[in-house]
Amino acid sequence: MEIKVVPQDILALQTHTLVVNLFEGVTQPGGATGAVDKALGGAVSQLIAEGEVTGKRGQMALIHTFGKIKPARVLVLGLGRREKFTLDTVRDLSGEACRYLRRLGAKSAATIVHGAGIGGLEPEAAARAIAEGAVMGLYTFTRHKSRPEEPADGLRELLLVEREADKLPALEHGVRQGRVLAESVNLTRDLINEPANILTPTALAEAAARVAADHGLECAVYDREWMEKMSMGALLGVARGSRQPPKFVVLRYWGDPANRAKALGLVGKGITFDTGGISLKPAEGMANMKGDMSGAAAVIAAMRAIAQLAPRVNVTALVPTTENMPGGDAQRPGDVVRALNGKTIEVDNTDAEGRLILADALSYGRKLGLSPMLDVATLTGAIRMTFGSVCTGGFTNDQALLDRLVRAGATEGERIWQLPMYEEYREQNKSDVADVKNSGGRFAGSITAAMFLSEFAEDTPWVHLDIAGSRYAEKDSGAYVKGTTGVMTRTLTRFAMESASGT
Ligand code: BES
Ligand code: MN
Ligand code: ZN
Repeated sequence: MEIKVVPQDILALQTHTLVVNLFEGVTQPGGATGAVDKALGGAVSQLIAEGEVTGKRGQMALIHTFGKIKPARVLVLGLGRREKFTLDTVRDLSGEACRYLRRLGAKSAATIVHGAGIGGLEPEAAARAIAEGAVMGLYTFTRHKSRPEEPADGLRELLLVEREADKLPALEHGVRQGRVLAESVNLTRDLINEPANILTPTALAEAAARVAADHGLECAVYDREWMEKMSMGALLGVARGSRQPPKFVVLRYWGDPANRAKALGLVGKGITFDTGGISLKPAEGMANMKGDMSGAAAVIAAMRAIAQLAPRVNVTALVPTTENMPGGDAQRPGDVVRALNGKTIEVDNTDAEGRLILADALSYGRKLGLSPMLDVATLTGAIRMTFGSVCTGGFTNDQALLDRLVRAGATEGERIWQLPMYEEYREQNKSDVADVKNSGGRFAGSITAAMFLSEFAEDTPWVHLDIAGSRYAEKDSGAYVKGTTGVMTRTLTRFAMESASGT
């Protein structure tokens, strides 16, 4: 999709539909909506007076202009109550409006920059949110459909109209950022939606290598022999049950080459399919487990966005990737493996595989001297019980670090809610035969999983993000469409941008 900022008078713009807006409770529209109202002989205020247009959040009223002004139609978009209006409103309503325009059959449409006027938002941020909402909200995954329901050539162009010339550079900058972020989110979604027979660990590594080649990242893809040399016994144990060879991907972005010793670490869980292994999952809903590489996808796509936005910071992404299958050589409950950092793990439950592969990845991150480290993983069903799909679970050994990450997420409308890591929980991971075991029992499952990971993050400042709930949306809503959300792609990117030195 093309998004352009155009310095134009809205009434003189030839377009399928022009989107203007209205706050709830406003009876005399001002600004762009007021100008349109006047040019249409009071049509908008009449509809308001008749109660048809109320400005309720998400309300869309389409008015045909029949040649009175250049835009063929005007869409009055309700922004809701002014006190509740935020950047998230703009992003979400941009998504809703774009889907509506696509249903109308519009190939090209124009919009004013919602929020940049009386809404009181920074014009750049408002433009960014519009671009994000449009590119994310129109997402479809039709690669495997012979006849897609949504036309592939739907809404192709969105024009942001602004008359004040001095605002244009900020708007253009915002649009570019929003587009980069949202396109990366869509890459995350594409990788997650791809079925596991196509997106094998090898294919995921190839996808990462392609991103690296396209965007100038350093890339290494390591195989089983390398993992053996590294003594990644935890990752290798999970990989044993599968015919597909495991991979370990390292992507490096050097935005601050003068300080090569310092790099932010991003770690993503890359289970391309989670059957549970010998501790086999029930059949119902197992197909969702093709998405058990959502953390890996978010990390790879964030690296793409970071490469494009080029902040002055070094970032290294680590992606351990394998299937979790119950093959003839699969590891068994009760097996003991040794992770890269030397700790021994009793594999109490082969379905708690995510923490095993992350254990080796975090240990390797420490070996590389990465700090801080942020891991993203569809780690526990329990986090879904706790938060549903509404927010991501956050865990840390460094409160200030998590606070920064939560703020980065809030800027992007990605919510992270912290759960505690009280020492008492560590008890549940105690093993009779090894240093730790990989399942902490029935209670506080998300927390004991995080406690397990902390054994491998050790004293490196670290945050664990459990996206097993937030990775999926049950219905179309705002910038999200039913299905994968691509969550944390934008948060990680923004965090990297805000970690940049001298900017
Ligand atoms: N990939 C799953 C977690 C998951 C569940 C993600 C539902 C998305 C939706 C993970 O590997 C897993 O199986 N976790 C177990 C851990 C348990 C065996 C200690 C779980 O949550 O049941
Ligand atoms: Mn599992
Ligand atoms: Zn899993």
